[in-house]
Amino acid sequence: MKTIFSGIQPSGTITIGNYIGAMMQFVELQNDYNCYFCIVDQHAITVPQDRLELRKNIRSLAALYLAVGIDPEKATLFIQSEVPAHAQAGWMMQCISYIGELERMTQFKDKSSGKDAVSASLLTYPPLMAADILLYNTDLVPVGDDQKQHMELTRDLAERFNRKYGEILTIPDIRLPEVGARIMSLQEPTKKMSKSDPNKKAFITPLDEPNQITKKIKSAVTDSEGIVKFDNVNKAGISNLLSIYSILANKTIPELEEMYHGKGYGDFKGDLADVVVNVFKPIQEKYNHLMESSELDRILDEGAQKANQVASKTLKKMENAMGLGRKRR
Ligand code: TYM
Repeated sequence: MKTIFSGIQPSGTITIGNYIGAMMQFVELQNDYNCYFCIVDQHAITVPQDRLELRKNIRSLAALYLAVGIDPEKATLFIQSEVPAHAQAGWMMQCISYIGELERMTQFKDKSSGKDAVSASLLTYPPLMAADILLYNTDLVPVGDDQKQHMELTRDLAERFNRKYGEILTIPDIRLPEVGARIMSLQEPTKKMSKSDPNKKAFITPLDEPNQITKKIKSAVTDSEGIVKFDNVNKAGISNLLSIYSILANKTIPELEEMYHGKGYGDFKGDLADVVVNVFKPIQEKYNHLMESSELDRILDEGAQKANQVASKTLKKMENAMGLGRKRR
């Protein structure tokens, strides 16, 4: 069985973008792959976090992973900081990274631009991500479109490590969803939907109340033409809503265009709101139950134990290859 690894940052509530771009893929793939799903809390602290908020967000993300359908019998769910090999291998990956290639990462440029004090970790974030993936001999990494560049760097670093120190690391491939790899902001549909958007109307979260979801969809920016048609260049807003509808209702975009032929955006948005509310309703119920149960801690303890076993083996191989410490078997 091939291995999958992916992670989500516990920095605020996740968005429908994370749900469609990442989590929906995870649920589907867990049946056919040996899966590791991680709550990457060490990545979250590359920008300032409130201690109590972070703790809350870690737990909340764990509950959401399970509520959307991750089955702990099939996949290993764990918290990054509970597996020390990540930070250790992350350091080794930093040692073989070049500052120039890290400075070229668009996410680094976006997050650091215009700031006076930029943490060193914002720059060294991608080698840690590489370590996350490489520790598990990962074959495939399901992510959204925005992680493409980090994935290319991960492959480069793995190949560089193998060239210098011997064939130790598996070179992973990226897996993007066919539709929904880049869900856009509801308010500025040429911009990626992001949980850090100061305008809360720009994103929907799986934990939003039904009336909030409806309001956000009804106020989503579209165009004045009033024709439900997919055209990413000239009609970015309605095209984004069509993508969301298509994925969540399991209908093709031409089917939806046909359904709304001759109807306006009002009908379309009202129906889409119902679709989203109905997808998130059972998830919210499961989430609320999990947050109050001790099941969550048991699952995370077991996950950390399993992940530690695999990760520490690869770490030992990497340390031996690089000549760190004393020779061990
Ligand atoms: P993060 O936490 O920003 O996002 C988690 C996942 O959601 C996807 N995503 C989206 N997909 C579609 N449309 C959007 N608008 C959208 N926004 C986010 C992301 O592509 C991602 O798959 N660096 C990673 C976390 C990470 C990781 C890893 C991922 C750390 N180590 C190892 C994979 C493997 C990140 O910041 O994702």
